[in-house]
Amino acid sequence: MLRHLVTIDDLSEFEIQAIFSLADEYLAQMATPDKPHRIRGRNPIAQDFVLATLFYEASTRTRFSFESAMLRLGGQVLSSADPKTTSAAKGETLADTIRVVENYADLVVIRHPCEGAVRVAADYADIPVINAGDGGHEHPTQTLCDLYTLQREKGALRNLNVVLWGDLKHGRTVHSLVYGLARFGARIIPLPAEGLGLPEHVCRRLLRDYDCVPLSKRDLGDFTSHDEFPVDVVYVTPDKPHQRSLFTNVQGEESDLLGVHLPQNAFARIDACYVTRLQKERMPNVAAAEAYPIVNREFLKNPMLKKSSVMHPLPRVSEMGYDIDDDERAVYFKQASYGVPVRMALIAALLNLKSGLLQPVHPRKKHAVYEQRTVACENPQCVTAQESERRYLTPRFWIVVEDEHLVLRCAYCEHEFVPGVMARTSTKKFMPNALDHDPPPADLVLFPDEAAALAAGFQPYKYKTRL
Ligand code: CP
Repeated sequence: MLRHLVTIDDLSEFEIQAIFSLADEYLAQMATPDKPHRIRGRNPIAQDFVLATLFYEASTRTRFSFESAMLRLGGQVLSSADPKTTSAAKGETLADTIRVVENYADLVVIRHPCEGAVRVAADYADIPVINAGDGGHEHPTQTLCDLYTLQREKGALRNLNVVLWGDLKHGRTVHSLVYGLARFGARIIPLPAEGLGLPEHVCRRLLRDYDCVPLSKRDLGDFTSHDEFPVDVVYVTPDKPHQRSLFTNVQGEESDLLGVHLPQNAFARIDACYVTRLQKERMPNVAAAEAYPIVNREFLKNPMLKKSSVMHPLPRVSEMGYDIDDDERAVYFKQASYGVPVRMALIAALLNLKSGLLQPVHPRKKHAVYEQRTVACENPQCVTAQESERRYLTPRFWIVVEDEHLVLRCAYCEHEFVPGVMARTSTKKFMPNALDHDPPPADLVLFPDEAAALAAGFQPYKYKTRL
């Protein structure tokens, strides 16, 4: 069965662990003497296959490590590193490009500046498509490298305290990573640069879709009093999702949260510090750069960081000092090196070169689909907002039911928004977005506001009859 990797949720926990086990095998068989994280030589199980890398944005690690992985597996590589040299420069759409490239390769890796662009490619392709980063949305293969590094450094992922540092708003590696950490039960400690916190829709998904519990300053007690760690919230994953249990906060008080039992010293140490650079290319205004925090030797003197791995997806700019490169806690070059065995294992999985790595697909959560042009994705970076792609794409959303209203999640860029008005074609009536039906009726129509509903010929609902 054809499988793609567009978001980290396209792989189950079992599949991720199976890919990690195969990466372990590759390292055990092929590591360079004295450099146990570095692959050398060949294991030619993909010699009949061709990988295409189609990069519409700059890259060093992701493209080279994918190409190295394919060459190490004995396969061939077609590479486009500059969109100016493809027919995208002449206005060719993604849908057309992918339906051409699929004739030349068996697997394609795409990086694109628009959020959701790789989902479009996957929708049109009949070969596996891998997302190598789509705008500020996700970078799932970086997350595989990050989780793999953490697991090798720390032995396991569950209950690790992982600080996320820097530009959490625009950093696509962070967005994939928080979902991965939540799914494997690590504790997520956001430490954003000023004004660059996790996007609201990402925070809402952590709570709603991954069963995370947000611990506040009150729950965290002494942990938030460290000047170096001005923590507002920590996301923890219950041991048994959906189970209400008595939560004891670190001050020893009982709290009626849906959650977990945390040991008293749960935050005595930071297991990993994941540093990210300011994503200037995604910011119209880069004033925040002046206040951007720096991780350096001085910072690492904090006793809580004594055994903390310092990670970074790289490239670094000025947010991380060169003075820590020789520190044994600095694992970012090892993390980049693991890109080869992890991507070799992923290629083997998606090309079905090894059995037992992938399972039949079971979506994590089922949502109804909304596919009408009465609403548009509100994210200006979404692929559906781009002139070239809008010509042929129909907006598509998942209807996510929250406590009091319906939320639309764009099926491409996964941004969420709340349409102001809901209506029904059977009655031609509309009312404010509020949960009136569960599940949503089949003839549901959503509008951004009343004016749009009126313009479409709908009338306000009168409160004696149901919608
Ligand atoms: N980590 C990462 O995506 O690096 P590149 O941009 O060099 O591929």
